[in-house]
Amino acid sequence: LGWNVYYEESVPSTQKIAHKLAHDGAEEGTLVIAEEQTAGRGRLDRSWHSPKGTGIWMSLILRPAIPPQQAPQLTLLAAVAVSQGIQEVTGLVPDIKWPNDILLNGKKAVGILTELQADPDQVHAVIVGIGINVNQTREHFPSELASTATSLALEAGKPVNRAQLVQMILSKFETLYDQYLQHGFSPIKLLWEGYAVTIGKEVVARTLSGTVSGVALGITDTGTLKLRTKDGDIHYIYSADIEIKK
Ligand code: BTN
Repeated sequence: LGWNVYYEESVPSTQKIAHKLAHDGAEEGTLVIAEEQTAGRGRLDRSWHSPKGTGIWMSLILRPAIPPQQAPQLTLLAAVAVSQGIQEVTGLVPDIKWPNDILLNGKKAVGILTELQADPDQVHAVIVGIGINVNQTREHFPSELASTATSLALEAGKPVNRAQLVQMILSKFETLYDQYLQHGFSPIKLLWEGYAVTIGKEVVARTLSGTVSGVALGITDTGTLKLRTKDGDIHYIYSADIEIKK
């Protein structure tokens, strides 16, 4: 893949810059990374808190020859790459909550936002935005995030080298992406399932069209979540916020 890196001190959002670069023809492997984002974006129109020098805020541009329906697979691939990188560098074992939250001790340390530039039948660019809380202390988190968010340093009990972690994640990403292009999603799915906490659990899925509760049975080959409700109905969830019942 070979990464072509744009390093920025402060930007509104690396995701926005990557979109523009992709639109202007930037090649696969282009990466935008910033020390600070002043308008970081999360899924579902939420904001993403990205204070200076504490985290890894980056967006990758990919150009796989896949139909748009398969793009969620790349979100799961990214979650595996980040989990492997974290595990290797810190020794912490992350949990992945479908589709793309990475948790440490039940609190969110990483968010991934995958966006497309695509026609109905062909992807032009996939922008994978990755936000990792690395060296934040408790004081860094605004009160509304205090009970749900954490950082690698808080969980590891010591600061984590961000440059080393970025390198490790990119190298894991490259390996997985090559595997994906050669052999498809199945090997990635297996690795993802190894980190997944959602599977086999009672969950509540809040989607744009309503709420579904049931047991998470697994993910399909396209990366959608398969749920079985109390009545035995099977639901396929494409996009939702998942709450795992205790
Ligand atoms: C989420 O969990 O809601 C996804 C958060 C994604 C945050 C990253 S940080 C780098 C990139 N730039 C953004 O503005 N958002 C993503």
